[in-house]
Amino acid sequence: MRKPLIAGNWKMHGSTASAIELADTLGSCRHLFEGADMVVFPPAVYIQHVAEQLVKNNIAVGGQTVSEHAKGAYTGEISAGMLKDLGCSYVLVGHSERRALYVETSQSVAEKFKAAQENKLTPILCVGESLLERQQDKTFAVINSQIAAVIDLVGLEAVCNGVVAYEPVWAIGTGQVASPEQAQEVHATIRKQLGEGGSTTRLLYGGSVKSSNAAALFSQPDIDGGLVGGASLEAEEFLKIAQLTL
Ligand code: 13P
Repeated sequence: MRKPLIAGNWKMHGSTASAIELADTLGSCRHLFEGADMVVFPPAVYIQHVAEQLVKNNIAVGGQTVSEHAKGAYTGEISAGMLKDLGCSYVLVGHSERRALYVETSQSVAEKFKAAQENKLTPILCVGESLLERQQDKTFAVINSQIAAVIDLVGLEAVCNGVVAYEPVWAIGTGQVASPEQAQEVHATIRKQLGEGGSTTRLLYGGSVKSSNAAALFSQPDIDGGLVGGASLEAEEFLKIAQLTL
């Protein structure tokens, strides 16, 4: 049985005060979603404040990205060891915004995945196709190659020990959520690619998840939770979504 996982990607939003307030509310409502794991991804500068509030309530904290390097002259970068040091236990790798806006290649995403695991962080590998790729019937080929790049570097077993989030680019921040059937079809294909070991790997769906559409998504057999952007910034809405994973 896979334990549901609900993840909140705060992206570049908030302030010290709002991050602490949100963390406080989530922490005090932990009893509402006891059967699920939760992780939030605040902007790096707020990780420590948020971790102080949440880790004691058994809610995990993670980084939105990580350097593939352990240390050195990489201005602006944060290593996996540093995230661990701040109290993180997860990290997002290969979010489509990182791939598209910061030109992260599948090779560098694979190296970030490796750096995370070497530092005992659980990587959430984000994959997904653009609208054009879906229209051109390339969805499965794109996702397959994004995952294969990581398998090539770290091996299948290591990928199975992480988490994979399917986030169709066309569904992110657009309000245009994938249908439960569309999402399930991709999740089933990902699980197949992971082989036997993938039967215990948690696969998340992300892209315009809200409390109004989450139940239908989470009831699909291969969807084990969600990676939520905008709706994770509102405590009440995010808590509702968390409860729908159960
Ligand atoms: P939205 O939920 O705002 O569409 O964002 C999804 C996402 O990118 C989570 O990583």
